[in-house]
Amino acid sequence: MNIAVRYYSRGGNTKKIAEAIAEAVGVEAKTVSEPLKEDVDILFLGSAPYAFDVDDEVKKFIGSIDVSVGKVVNFSTSAAVKSTRKYVEKLLEEKRIPVAKEEFSFRGALGMLHKGRPNENDQKAAAEFARGIIS
Ligand SMILES: Cc1cc2nc3c(=O)[nH]c(=O)nc-3n(C[C@H](O)[C@H](O)[C@H](O)COP(=O)(O)O)c2cc1C
Repeated sequence: MNIAVRYYSRGGNTKKIAEAIAEAVGVEAKTVSEPLKEDVDILFLGSAPYAFDVDDEVKKFIGSIDVSVGKVVNFSTSAAVKSTRKYVEKLLEEKRIPVAKEEFSFRGALGMLHKGRPNENDQKAAAEFARGIIS
């Protein structure tokens, strides 16, 4: 099974989760500035909301996908919204890339709000979730 992990992280929160996932599934976590170079069965795609949307880099990455992707598993960190799924789903649908119903989202610190998150427990939970997805 071909698996890839891509993420966008301004402050490092989503990066922490991406790295936990990548380690759990045995691949490298790469930023969305690195396009997919080969077909993948599962793409774990991580992002965070900034003022009610994901960064343009995430959109640019999705728009640039020109390989076959079996499905995207969305993951995110956020201070308030449930997840970033709603911000990426339409773009992925336009590319005819299925978005798995399973997703995971964690609280990400914003100043004093959710200080210390995501924490080690969140990283463990992300790793467990990712292992569950590929098993
Ligand atoms: C400028 C800015 C805008 C944000 N807007 C939102 C938002 O609209 N909704 C939300 O839930 N969180 C919002 N957040 C919180 C971030 O999504 C959260 O801290 C996330 O974990 C950041 O991930 P990162 O460290 O990987 O960049 C915002 C944070 C910043 C810095």
